[in-house]
Amino acid sequence: MKKIKVTICTGTACYVLGNSQLLVMKDDLKPELLKWIDFEGSNCLKYCKDASFGKAPFVLINGKLMAQATGPKVKDEIERLYLDMLDGGE
Ligand code: FES
Repeated sequence: MKKIKVTICTGTACYVLGNSQLLVMKDDLKPELLKWIDFEGSNCLKYCKDASFGKAPFVLINGKLMAQATGPKVKDEIERLYLDMLDGGE
């Protein structure tokens, strides 16, 4: 199974709007799920420069953009992808 890649923008706009809180969400994830996730931080992903992408904070999950990311939203998406993987999906 391929790991789920979670890129958290740590640029100023995203940081100020709450991305600094996102890693706390890791504590809510089941340990068996955590080993299937690669978390990484990134400098400004540039989505904050164009309103058509939505509002910061931004997170990429397997390359898919999530705007207005919150801990619960990111956790739900990770769990959904994990279940898909278990089913032989992605
Ligand atoms: S600061 Fe996050 S996309 Fe620019």
